Amino acid sequence: MQKKSIIQKNSGLKAECPIGIFDSGIGGLTVFKALRKLMPQENMIYFGDTAHLPYGSKSRASIIQFSVEIAHFLCQQKIKALVVACNTSSAVALSAIKKAVSVPVEGVIVPGARACVRRGFRRIGVIGTEGTVRSGAYAAEIKRFSSQARVFEVACPLFVPLVEEGWWKYGVTEEVARIYLKPLQKARVDSLVLGCTHYPVIKPVISRVMGNNVSLIDSGEQTAQEFEKTLESLNLRKRSGRGWSRFYVSDDPERFLRLSRRFLGSSILVKRVLKKNFE
Ligand code: DGL
Repeated sequence: MQKKSIIQKNSGLKAECPIGIFDSGIGGLTVFKALRKLMPQENMIYFGDTAHLPYGSKSRASIIQFSVEIAHFLCQQKIKALVVACNTSSAVALSAIKKAVSVPVEGVIVPGARACVRRGFRRIGVIGTEGTVRSGAYAAEIKRFSSQARVFEVACPLFVPLVEEGWWKYGVTEEVARIYLKPLQKARVDSLVLGCTHYPVIKPVISRVMGNNVSLIDSGEQTAQEFEKTLESLNLRKRSGRGWSRFYVSDDPERFLRLSRRFLGSSILVKRVLKKNFE
């Protein structure tokens, strides 16, 4: 019933139209990468809101305002569906975005939460930005899927700048991880959700600190898998050809360009969009 109404609402959408992906900045490239790997045929437009980065420490009202503006901008580019790659935005602004646009919208919280429960985990750790943890969005979704699950959430704000500095293998990153993750070790979690776009980059460090018995759940990867199924069920999956990618940022592209090489392992072209073009 719900699916039917989405199809009717989007009957003008075509499989050739691009997918829109947005994040507060560079981190969403981990989600872009997962989507690209799974769907090489799809056209994709990525927007990094570098002028407002980081979202993790911003107020709900600001995050909602920025997210809805970006969703409108991407819809002007004729996207067929939108992936909110940013965990903080998914946690606080998803329902506002869904109300504001008429394309299907996927956030990263529900797929991450669902994956934990589906795999039978019962003591689930969640790490994310202050905004994501404060929202309690992961805990709420996990408990919606399983009333027996216990959720332990910890904000790890220093991970974002450490990743952006490229200090992925430096001892200081592991030291910081040991401090942040101690309460989760004490809580004897069986799984840990990487509830922030940047964290998959330091997965080896987090895994080393938590040990082999704790499974790491990458919300971005889970989202890519669920999103592919959503496109298929809506008949919006592009099945042939090689997809193009376009990247926009809201501030000077220089830093994004430099960091993107580290995240993607290849060079990309990035264009700056001024806020006045949103309206
Ligand atoms: N992209 C954000 C997230 O996944 C992390 C960076 C930020 O705080 O903006 O929550």
